Amino acid sequence: MTLGLFDDAPAPYAAPKVIAPGAALLRGFALGVDEALLQAVEAVTAAAPLRHLVTPGGYTMSVAMSNCGALGWVSDRSGYRYDAKDPLSGKPWPAMPACFAELALRAAAEAGFDNFRPDACLINRYEPGARLSLHQDKDEGTMDAPIVSVSLGLPAVFLFGGLNRGDKPARYRLQHGDVAVWGGPSRLAHHGVAPLAQGEHARLGGRRINLTFRRAR
Ligand code: SIN
Ligand code: FE2
Repeated sequence: MTLGLFDDAPAPYAAPKVIAPGAALLRGFALGVDEALLQAVEAVTAAAPLRHLVTPGGYTMSVAMSNCGALGWVSDRSGYRYDAKDPLSGKPWPAMPACFAELALRAAAEAGFDNFRPDACLINRYEPGARLSLHQDKDEGTMDAPIVSVSLGLPAVFLFGGLNRGDKPARYRLQHGDVAVWGGPSRLAHHGVAPLAQGEHARLGGRRINLTFRRAR
């Protein structure tokens, strides 16, 4: 692959790129609202700080996480689950900012899933070396709604596999402003993120922020 001089310049959104039945990349879809999203991330994480969760197996995750919306995804030694309260504070998660819900609704519709009303948004922060191993999003109480995943900051390599863990994942470079949507026949596709490479993003420095919208209940 040859890399041209302008390959990293975010291009305006054009059309969905279908990567599997029910799964699409919307490149640049969030570019017009990126600053609003990032300011909302700052407000949410001021109230519910990013933290490194421990897995049921006892590993500390390299990705730091927080949530907003009625429900938040949490992990500890007792398992993975959705909880209405932030275990750090005992208080409800911050409300989902309007700009989050609006973007998630529009992105889902663009990928063919109408009326997406997420009740949970997981905020993931990656620093160089942080990764997310292949997994399925299967802690939600319904599989009827898609997953909408928004990338901000440093680029990452997104791994998108199949329904079986052994299916070799395809690799997609996700840049600032890109949105991935998977639902329907791809709802339980395995996915993950390769270790984040060092870099410098104009707005976020050496970090990547990912927003993952779900219907948890
Ligand atoms: C996730 O699977 O929760 C996050 C995916 C990503 O960071 O792109
Ligand atoms: Fe996931």
